[in-house]
Amino acid sequence: MRIVVLVSGTGSNLQAVIDAVKEGTLDIEIAAVGADRPGTYGIERSAAAGIPTFVVDFKAHPDRAAWNDALAEAVAAFEPDLVLSSGFMRIVSADFIDAFGGKYLNTHPALLPSFPGAHGVRDALAYGVKVTGCTVHWADAGVDTGPIIAQEAVAVEDGETEESLHERIKVVERRLLVSTLASLAAEQKAAASPN
Ligand code: GAR
Repeated sequence: MRIVVLVSGTGSNLQAVIDAVKEGTLDIEIAAVGADRPGTYGIERSAAAGIPTFVVDFKAHPDRAAWNDALAEAVAAFEPDLVLSSGFMRIVSADFIDAFGGKYLNTHPALLPSFPGAHGVRDALAYGVKVTGCTVHWADAGVDTGPIIAQEAVAVEDGETEESLHERIKVVERRLLVSTLASLAAEQKAAASPN
């Protein structure tokens, strides 16, 4: 299974995927990593791992449609079986997702459909929930919407900050992301050679 990963930030979830591939516990190929802006640590760490990278700068395009088309073209060049949004903080169009057969995977640091958006951890904390968690799901063109594949709960501790809670969620999120990718890769392998 060939994947292209999209990042907007530090890419610590991506690093877990890179490590699992390197250790031989995850049988996929990271064909490329792309970002929506220059200067992300996610791109830096991918380049350091020897993975091809690209940037399709949102701000360098006249409008969202032009950016979306450019992103689709850049991703398609690597012929992925699946595109992973790993902390990618931009909404892509339905056309983009269709171009990759609907195989657009997203991870989110809350138990969707609760607390979608860019501040899932902050919003859950502000609401006062006692349990939150993370979700891996097939993304559609909405904000953190689409069929859920896997979720895991994380209890909120007394005196928790957004940073401390997000860090604890990410520990679980990384494991869930790697195990979901492993299941999807195994399914694809089985489908390719049913006997
Ligand atoms: C992750 O927790 C991911 O779930 C979240 O951004 C973080 C990226 O961390 N994504 C969203 O909030 C999407 N709505 P990372 O760059 O260190 O992997």
